[in-house]
Amino acid sequence: MEEIKKIGVLTSGGDAPGMNAAIRAVVRAGSHHGLEVFGINRGYQGMIDGDIIPLPPTSVSGIIQKGGTILQTARCMEFMEYEGRKKAYDQLQRFGIQAVIVIGGDGSFTGASIMSKEFDIPFIGIPGTIDNDLYGTDVTIGYDTAISTAVEAVDKIRDTASSHGRIFFVEVMGRNAGFLALSTGIACGAEGILVPEEKGQLGKLRKYLAERAAHKKSSIIIVAEGDEEGGAITIAKRIQEEFPNLSIRTSILGHIQRGGSPSAYDRITASRMGSAAIEALLDDQKSIMIGIVNNEVAYVPLSKSIKLHKDVDRDLLKLAEELV
Ligand code: F6P
Repeated sequence: MEEIKKIGVLTSGGDAPGMNAAIRAVVRAGSHHGLEVFGINRGYQGMIDGDIIPLPPTSVSGIIQKGGTILQTARCMEFMEYEGRKKAYDQLQRFGIQAVIVIGGDGSFTGASIMSKEFDIPFIGIPGTIDNDLYGTDVTIGYDTAISTAVEAVDKIRDTASSHGRIFFVEVMGRNAGFLALSTGIACGAEGILVPEEKGQLGKLRKYLAERAAHKKSSIIIVAEGDEEGGAITIAKRIQEEFPNLSIRTSILGHIQRGGSPSAYDRITASRMGSAAIEALLDDQKSIMIGIVNNEVAYVPLSKSIKLHKDVDRDLLKLAEELV
């Protein structure tokens, strides 16, 4: 295998706080090992368009604390087709880029895995998503910050909920995963947590509300966006019909959870993963994702991280029920 001298880094899919810290780590660790690092703007779309810029070490000064991603991000349909990936490969060749580090989620890694096989180019994945839904790592970049953002918001909702004795259904992000909902719910002392990984939770909620209704107490029910019963609005509507005497309100936290300055933990995780990605490349690895497992850096085949399902912590689910 020829010696790697030039690499590209991109962010793809939904942005997550800490992506900038990961870009910085890739650039600085790359430079430390004598690599030339290029930034690919707007994810795979920028790769196709040749929107590629040099990233010298000074270009990433002052970004570790910034939310979002300085490289911008995109969900690119064209990259899903072979023709799109061929265009992207030709652009990499034009710039002499021999390997790519992708900071993103499972969709981004699927593209990386396919292109890596088609064009024999090493791709290293760094998990960056607030959903924390990637197999092979205990944490993803952005998850910790998003929990704190959601908790801060729910604490405020709790104030008004208790003042009015209301039931609030609060929807948090997580397309198909309940990690953010579960952590937020436990940290806020929620009276109910609905996640896609657990079936039949609505029955328990009905029972709880029937018993509690008489006390006129407020309750916070956290709903993961991808819950099987529908989002918070759908569920709240059904519950309101069944319990007409309850004063029910809904709140969708939405994209606020994706923004903000990353927590110290996310910055450190991003720094560790960025540096580990460079080491993996220098070690001739390809098509792997960097993970953190039991606080140690771990290397997982990209194919596994995409295919295998990471389950929510069942002990945490039990804990949440026990503490209501
Ligand atoms: O994957 C992260 C995520 O924030 C999901 O939780 C959410 O469903 C999705 O992105 C929203 O994506 P978009 O910003 O493209 O609407």
